[in-house]
Amino acid sequence: MSSVVTENCIKCKYMECVAVCPADCFHEGPNFLVIDPAKCMNCTLCIVVCPVGAIYMQHEVPEIQRNFIELNEELSAFWPSITTPKSPPSDAHKWNGIPHKLALLAR
Ligand code: F3S
Repeated sequence: MSSVVTENCIKCKYMECVAVCPADCFHEGPNFLVIDPAKCMNCTLCIVVCPVGAIYMQHEVPEIQRNFIELNEELSAFWPSITTPKSPPSDAHKWNGIPHKLALLAR
């Protein structure tokens, strides 16, 4: 069981999650972060600190976003690990809650 980053992280990428992760689980893509399920201890710290509510425990991922479980596993295999937070995009606040952001995911 791991935590899962879902759609609302895309283009928000606040990185608060990276700062609290005790297991260095996060991997960074151009406009989204994912969790390596093999490393995640499911401590849930990242769920608490994400300002846009983008992270769920795996069994609580909303039905419409279940595809993000596989996406975290797939992308964490080749995106680089990130253990130090960076600044979020300057327009991050504009993307919070915008629907259908999966189409904007950059690999
Ligand atoms: Fe994304 Fe939230 Fe982390 S927006 S980068 S999951 S703090």
